[in-house]
Amino acid sequence: MEHTISVTSQAERKVTDTKSLPFGKIPTEHMFIAEYKNGEWQNAQVVPFHDLTLSPLALCLHYGQTVFEGMKAFMMEDGHINIFRADKHYDRFTKSLHRMCMPQVPEKLFIDAIKQLVLLDADWVPKEADGSLYIRPFMIATEDRIGVKVSDEYLFMVVCSPAFQYYAKPLKVKVETNFVRAAEGGTGSAKCGGNYGGAFYPTQLAREAGYDQVLWTDSVHNEFIEESGTMNAMFFIDNVLVTPQLSGTILDGVTRDSLLAIAEAKGMTIEVRQISYAELITAFEAGKRVEAFGAGTAAVVAPIEIIAIGHKEYKCYIEPDAMMYQLQKELFNIRRGLTADTFKWNYVI
Ligand SMILES: Cc1ncc(COP(=O)(O)O)c(C=O)c1O
Repeated sequence: MEHTISVTSQAERKVTDTKSLPFGKIPTEHMFIAEYKNGEWQNAQVVPFHDLTLSPLALCLHYGQTVFEGMKAFMMEDGHINIFRADKHYDRFTKSLHRMCMPQVPEKLFIDAIKQLVLLDADWVPKEADGSLYIRPFMIATEDRIGVKVSDEYLFMVVCSPAFQYYAKPLKVKVETNFVRAAEGGTGSAKCGGNYGGAFYPTQLAREAGYDQVLWTDSVHNEFIEESGTMNAMFFIDNVLVTPQLSGTILDGVTRDSLLAIAEAKGMTIEVRQISYAELITAFEAGKRVEAFGAGTAAVVAPIEIIAIGHKEYKCYIEPDAMMYQLQKELFNIRRGLTADTFKWNYVI
């Protein structure tokens, strides 16, 4: 079924200084909202950004039926706006919704909603090379009923916020062997709200101990590296790119996938496989060059400087000639239209 999106615009832009504000603090002037009722999507609208009215009984407030995506629009060199890998984000959104028993959003509605919103708020897409417009599509269960059940009603929304550098400096991470983020068969590969709420406490403990993030390990052995915060974990060990394989417990990161494709095209040696923290210790102790970094839409390539394993801290290679920066630069160039988009990742609007 075709959905018509009505657009009500608000004339003036109120905020101009966005660079100095923390990530995600300032929404653009407009948002997209659609309602799911009686088994179908209706009232699809781009409207001025506004607060919601929800019943305290709304199911999303109690049982965690919420799913989101995180993607970015970039200002290209030629002045066009590029929504990076919109189709892959849609696919992941669809999988997350399926896992959480939530209704699918037709691809055309998802893409059109984002396109119309970004076009209307186009002057919010930063022109600075280190800037982008972060796009947050999300869905919440809105049926008002306090019993534990799959909701019959939902809101699908999209909001945007300008984004600049996510981490100001290289990260210090701690390998987490007590708490787990996700177990096989759980919801780790879905981008659902509960995964993030459950990660706060261990991350808070790591912060109190002087680290920026935890590096999660698997739930069975607490040995194999999974991911970190909102990033996939990647390593160059003696110039071989190593990253954990996708399983049910880590997110299928769009940045991870993009960096792997770029690395392959560059002829780099890649190993997608389990990697234990013991292997990292062996590499550090053998004096191998170990690069470690987080890959994610918000932080892009976040170099890791220190990995704490048990009571010992290991120093990773973060000098300017590190291999990870080659991948970062190529990704940057593709998104900005400075290099040919041979992978067909750019959705130019
Ligand atoms: C848990 C988790 N892992 C990895 C990622 C990286 O995924 P992407 O590159 O698609 O942003 C994210 C961010 O979305 C995340 O939340």
